Formats: sequence, structure tokens, C-alpha cells
Amino acid sequence: MKRRVAILISGRGSNMAALIEGARANSFPAEIALVISNKPDAAGLALAKSNGITTLAIDSKPFGKDRAAFEAVMQSALDEHRIDLICLGGFMRLLTDDFVNRWTGRMLNIHPSLLPSFRGLDPHGQALRAGVKISGATVHFVTPEMDAGPIVMQGAVAVQDGDTAETLAARVLDIEHRIYPAALKLVASGGIRIDGDVCVTTNADNVSDTLIVPAAV
Ligand code: GAR
Repeated sequence: MKRRVAILISGRGSNMAALIEGARANSFPAEIALVISNKPDAAGLALAKSNGITTLAIDSKPFGKDRAAFEAVMQSALDEHRIDLICLGGFMRLLTDDFVNRWTGRMLNIHPSLLPSFRGLDPHGQALRAGVKISGATVHFVTPEMDAGPIVMQGAVAVQDGDTAETLAARVLDIEHRIYPAALKLVASGGIRIDGDVCVTTNADNVSDTLIVPAAV
């Protein structure tokens, strides 16, 4: 049985599109059953619709600061669609601890930095100001603390001299689109185990890739 996935978005939905594309394969252990946006005009909603995915706009604006009331509506939709796993894809609304705890071990997020570095806003600007030579993206389980939680998968890119937040973001976004479907596949197929704060990959291939920046010649 494929795991039923809901993707929560607020904007363009490029990670959502990568997940939809990845889940097309017959052998993929999950299906994208629902896309929810808290912004009715999110470009990602139309994109999901054009891919034949069931979509739902739940405008968060009228709920103001009442996050619990907004989440109650969202939870009913998730129940109605028998959702097993949630993927956050640029979902720009803070979730209450209650909602997050209800989905412990069943909700993933992607963040465009190598966590635990550069949480929160402007991660690429933070990375450039810190002068790191390697940056990347992280797929992690969601916990009440923002941009924290057991890490499922990370992908790295070299930071180039002359990079701006925009050029770095574009290269990291390519990595995001590769690792999010791969991480969902791993989780949905039962290929990981959460051990405290750490995600352990069962049957991981030995990885020996090295990225040295600038190249050590
Ligand atoms: C992505 O870069 C994602 O990593 C980031 O928002 C963007 C959404 O783009 N998420 C965060 O910063 C979460 N803290 P998308 O709508 O094209 O997927």
C-alpha cells in the first residue's frame, strides 16, 4: 500500500512539483494525495491541479493569530483524505506544538541550508556572511523547534566566490529537488529509524563522496 502524502505549500511549489514528479514512478512507495495551500493565490496550487492532484486552499488570513483554529480545519481535511505523511514545501506558516506533536515522525520539511546551520529566514545570506565554502539543503522531520528535528537527508553544493544569495539559492534549489523525493522515498519505504534526535538509515549504501572547496590542489 502506498503511503498517502499531503504537501503543504504557500508559494511557487517547485519542491511540490519535484515530489509529484518523483512519485509518478509505479515503484514509488508514496502517492501525492492532496496539496493544501494557506494562500489561495499560490502559484503551486494551479501547478498541482494541472498535474491532476486534489488541491485545497485554506486561507489562513481570516484566522489571524488563531493558529489552532486554522489547523483544526486543515486536520479535518487531512483526516478526510486519509493522509499518512505530510511534506512541507515552502509552507510559510508557523505550526502549533500540538499540531506538530500529533504528526511526530510523519511530517517532513525541507530547508535550504545544511542544518543545524542557518535556520530561519535568509539562509543563503546567512551562509554567505558566515563565509562557508559548502552549503546545501536538508530534509528533516518536523519538531516544535523551527528548522530542527532528525535529519533524513542532506545535499551539498560548493559556494563560489562571487555568489549572491540568488545564485546560491538557485544551485541549492536544484539539490532540493533531488533530495526531497529521495528522502520521501526513504521514509515511506521504512528505510529509516528515528533514534532520539538522530535519524538512522537502515541498509544505507556506503557513501564515500568528498567535496573539498576550494579544490585542494
Ligand atoms: C524552498 O527553497 C524551501 O527550501 C524553503 O522555501 C522554498 C520554497 O520554494 N523553505 C524554507 O525556507 C523553510 N524554512 P518552493 O515553493 O519552490 O518549493
